Order: sequence, then C-alpha cells, then structure tokens
Amino acid sequence: MSEPKKLFIKTYGCQMNVYDSERMAEALGAEGYVTTEVAEEADMVLLNTCHIREKAAEKVYSDLGRLRPLKQAKPDLKIGIAGCVAQAEGEEILKRMPLVDLVVGPQSYHRLPAMAKAAEAGQKTVDTDFPEEDKFDHLPDRPKASVRPTAFLTVQEGCDKFCAFCVVPYTRGAEVSRPVERILTEARGLVEKGVRELTLLGQNVNAYHGQGADGDWTLARLVRELARVDGLERIRYTTSHPNDMGDDLIAAHGEEPKLMPYLHLPVQSGSDRILKAMARKHTAEQYLRLIEKIRAARPDMMMSGDFIVGFPGETDADFDATMDLIRAVNYGMAYSFKYSARPGTPAAEKAPVPADVADARLQTLQALITQQQRAAQEGMVGREVSVLFEKPGRLKGQMVGKSDYLHAVHVETGLPVGAIARVRIVSSAPNSLAGEIVAA
Ligand code: SAH
Ligand code: SF4
Ligand code: F3S
Repeated sequence: MSEPKKLFIKTYGCQMNVYDSERMAEALGAEGYVTTEVAEEADMVLLNTCHIREKAAEKVYSDLGRLRPLKQAKPDLKIGIAGCVAQAEGEEILKRMPLVDLVVGPQSYHRLPAMAKAAEAGQKTVDTDFPEEDKFDHLPDRPKASVRPTAFLTVQEGCDKFCAFCVVPYTRGAEVSRPVERILTEARGLVEKGVRELTLLGQNVNAYHGQGADGDWTLARLVRELARVDGLERIRYTTSHPNDMGDDLIAAHGEEPKLMPYLHLPVQSGSDRILKAMARKHTAEQYLRLIEKIRAARPDMMMSGDFIVGFPGETDADFDATMDLIRAVNYGMAYSFKYSARPGTPAAEKAPVPADVADARLQTLQALITQQQRAAQEGMVGREVSVLFEKPGRLKGQMVGKSDYLHAVHVETGLPVGAIARVRIVSSAPNSLAGEIVAA
C-alpha cells in the first residue's frame, strides 16, 4: 500500500463553510485522503472560499499567490478552489490562476472525489452546477469519532431574499430545506459520537420547511423533535431573518429548555429608508416589536446582530437611526461591516458613501457594540449558567466551555470535555468569564 494522500483545507467565511469543509474532507477521506494541518505536507490543498465582501474574496488570491512556491517545489500538488468564490468566478479562476487544478461550487462538492481523480490524471475541471441531485444524498456517512462535543448541521441552504447588497442568493442558489428524516439521522449519528450541542445551519435557517412524513415541517417543529434525542443537550440555530421568525419558533424558545437563549437576528440598519433600499422588507419598528415578543417568551434572550454601515445613500440621520436601534435592542454580541460593493448585486450600481465617512461610522458603531458586549458579559458575574466543556484551559486543572449565552467560561474542574455543569460566574476578563462549579 502506498502512503495515504494528504489533504489540507483552509476555510474562509461563515459556519456553513466550516460544515462544508468537514463534509468535503469526509468525501475525499472515502478516496484515501487524510487531513493534515500542515500545507507543506499536502498532496492537495483546498481553499473553501467566501465571496461576501471584496476583502474576503481577494484574500483567496493572495493566499493562492503564496502557494505558488509550494507548487513549484512539488509539481504533483493539486490545488482546488471550493465555496462561494468558486461559484461566483468559476472558469475565471483558472484563467487568473493557472496553478489551480479544480474549481467546485457549494452545491456540487459531492463530485469532488471524481474531480480529484481527474486532477491526479492531469485534467483541470470546473463544476459550478446547481445539480438536480442533492449533494447530501451523495456524500458518505459521517465517519469516525468526532472528538468535539459541539457540531454544525446544515438543515437549509440558499436564499431567496435578494437583499440589494448580498451575493449569497447567487453563490448558494435558491432556498432548499433538507428532509426531516435525513437531519434526524445525521443528528442521532453525531450524538452517538459524543456531540451534545448542535447548531442548525442555514442562510435563512428559520425559513426551514423540510419534508416530513406528514408534510412540511417548520424549524420550530424540527427543534422540538431534535430536543427528544437523548444525549443531545443543547440546540442553537443560525442565521435567521426577521421576516421568518414564526410564532411557533418564538414559543419554542419559551418552552423548550434545550433551545439556547441566544439568537442571531441580523437587521443591518435602523433606518427605514435604508432598510427599504436594501430590500430587507421590514421596518426598524417591526424588528423592535419582534424582539419584544421574543423577550416576552424568553426574558433572558441574548440578542446578536449584523450591521452594515455606509450602504449607498446612507446619511448621518440614517446612521443615527441605526445607533438608536442598537441602543434600543441592547445586543449581547454584534458583527458590523463596512459596505462592500459586490459584482452583480443591485446596490453595486449606486454611488458609494465616501470611504472616510463609512470608516468613521464603523468606528462609532463598533464602540457602542463593544460597550454593550462588555456590559452583557460583566452582567453575568454572580449569575449561575450552564457550561458545556469543550477543551482543557491553558492552566492546569482548568477547562474552557461555553455558557448558554455563548460566553467562553474558564472553570477549575476535573470534569471531562463534553460534560455540562452548573457554574457560578465569579469574574469577567476582556474575552472570557471565570466560574466555579455549583453542581454537575
Ligand atoms: N443570511 C444572513 C447573513 C448573510 S451574510 C442574513 O440574512 O443576515 C452575513 C453578513 O454579512 C450579513 O448579515 C451582512 O451584515 C454582511 N454582508 C453581506 N453582504 C455584505 C456586503 N456587500 N458588504 C458588507 N457586508 C455585507
Ligand atoms: Fe444575503 Fe439577505 Fe439572503 Fe441574508 S437574507 S443571505 S443578507 S440576501
Ligand atoms: Fe461567505 Fe458564502 Fe458564507 S459568501 S458568508 S461563505 S455563504
């Protein structure tokens, strides 16, 4: 037997890419590839890319440039581009970067083993189809023991919302929900391997409407069914769109203890004028009322969001409205971005806000968010939370895990990875909390 071939994967972008990278590694694993953390050792390097902002997309090309000497030293090295840049640019990538051997989009990566074989035979391939067949039906069963107690599980993919700034509907395609039974089977398999927390993924995960035995299921129903899986202790989901936040899902937050009290619900802007121009199809007021409803069901809900500053046409007054909305919601966590014009999106046709104005707004907004995040974290001191231990800490006898609210918590304990304990928070450092075990 020859040495196993080695695969190095670098993942950019969102959690769905993290999930996809695992599945691609599994698909190539069935063909004899083992993963390595060292690019220099690899027989194949796969970049699983993100197209969401210009910077993310350009990073891929600079990383490819850095692979050039490696390929020169090792001509048999195969280089593949997967993910959303692959989908958006396809063939163009081969023209711009002749060192690339294969280009595969997010909906066709089940064909990766065949493409790898072609690459080994010296053939270049590009596959950016949205195939008839479902990739999930053509991927191997999830193999081997997963050592981590948390896992992602894609339940829905793609987006039909076409926000004016966003490439995702083009790179991921139309909204598709995976059938209920397939998700339950994958979830049970992961739990058998030691997973105790699942994060259900979708570009618009709360628009989930997968086929069950008795018709379409909502995300709320799926969550309630997953909550019955023994050994699965925590359920999260991301990312949600405000317009798909159904009453049954809100109710589930009040009733299902395994559903964690942390919700990422991007709004992008607090100005109705800008929301309209973004084609978000809701107002700031509707978003605020929605959050009231969610907090009525689950008073301790920690809110998280995404914001874009400097969208074309954004005035100081529009920006102030965003700041007001942030103050009104009081986020536990939020991500913010300077608007980036993306090829093929409607907003890219419009005149941009001057870069220095957008930069200044981003700084102002991030200062407010940082203040809220810090306050939310410091507000945990003295409270009791549950912590799922994920790995040993840096100090001896210490474990690190995540609270229900996704804060990192350091605890001195002999409990193993995968254990969940009640913990009293005793102090707050800049990026984590420290706590003491109350009861296992
Ligand atoms: N499906 C999710 C998230 C998609 S992308 C949603 O509906 O919110 C993640 C975040 O990237 C978005 O929420 C948005 O804040 C940001 N983003 C998307 N396109 C962008 C662009 N062109 N420029 C800057 N930020 C962008
Ligand atoms: Fe992009 Fe909007 Fe779809 Fe989110 S809802 S993926 S921001 S188009
Ligand atoms: Fe990026 Fe594609 Fe995710 S563009 S954010 S990797 S869906």
